[in-house]
Amino acid sequence: MSNLIDPFGRTVSYLRVSVTDRCNYRCQYCMSENMTFLPKSNLLSLEELDRICSAFIKRGVDKIRLTGGEPLVRRNIMSLIESLGKHVKDGKLRELTLTTNGSQLTKYAQRLVDCGVKRINVSLDSLNPEKFQSITRWGKLSDVIDGLEAAKQAGLEIKINAVALKNFNENEVDDLISWCGGQKFDLTFIETMPMGEIDEDRTDQYLPLTILKNRIKKNWTLEETSHTTGGPATYSRVKETGKRIGFITPLTHNFCESCNRVRLTCTGKLFMCLGQDDEKDLLTPIRTSEGDELLMSAIDEAIGRKPKGHDFIIDRVGAAPAVSRHMSVTGG
Ligand code: 5AD
Ligand code: SF4
Repeated sequence: MSNLIDPFGRTVSYLRVSVTDRCNYRCQYCMSENMTFLPKSNLLSLEELDRICSAFIKRGVDKIRLTGGEPLVRRNIMSLIESLGKHVKDGKLRELTLTTNGSQLTKYAQRLVDCGVKRINVSLDSLNPEKFQSITRWGKLSDVIDGLEAAKQAGLEIKINAVALKNFNENEVDDLISWCGGQKFDLTFIETMPMGEIDEDRTDQYLPLTILKNRIKKNWTLEETSHTTGGPATYSRVKETGKRIGFITPLTHNFCESCNRVRLTCTGKLFMCLGQDDEKDLLTPIRTSEGDELLMSAIDEAIGRKPKGHDFIIDRVGAAPAVSRHMSVTGG
């Protein structure tokens, strides 16, 4: 079956799947305190998620990332990871990975490895227990630290994602770099993106990474690397720690030319771009027929509509978010 090539000649080889919009945390830049989540009856079943993922694998997708919300709070999630893991074992899927807040890893790290997961991204914005609790509203830092230890013991490679927030973790940047270096974790800083209504004003949180990077350069030697994942991150190596450091700058840079990914929500909508509203329904095609012809033609139509790029901008104070859905709908 033919690969997925969009109108701009980009091959889509990477599928990100938000398996739930729910989370046990309420990070201030991500969610409002009183989130209304989707009724469970609107969700794709794990079997349906597996069916859609398998169709994408048939069409040449060789990397799948499970996200959320928090993927590991979806009930019975390991059954999906186990069945996707079979594609890793038979060589069709180059990489199966997830983005998690790390709070459930003591329970799941070893099982993830058994399913063929080799690397994970763990979101962690502060190493200070009080600050961690305030940014996540409900989180306990030690749960994540214990989870990371379990993941390390199980042999998972780990990348930490930290959202750079003005007046919050700016002063922890050096600590994060040296701690990650000591733990042998890669580290990526992310700029806040204007997605979904939250309780705070994003212009207060926004910290351009150009500023952060220049500050980092005062204390650390950054060596340029050619490493890329086709996504918005640019990577350097920190000479002193030997680990990679990445910067995800959706607002200050344009990275859309090399975009290789699409995003599936837990309700079966396919988003062709993180920063645009256009979506294609994949739920109807799978619920109305047992065979995959309708699904495959819906996927083709969606890829045919993949836009050239996004137009995020945080400028007007009090302006509506650039896209109305929260990050937890499509995953980061
Ligand atoms: N802007 C930037 N990053 C966000 N994340 C969640 N919401 C936002 C946002 N509005 C981050 C999380 C996690 C990753 C999946 O996305 O912290 O690291
Ligand atoms: Fe949950 Fe991640 Fe959003 Fe925090 S950023 S509330 S951990 S989904």
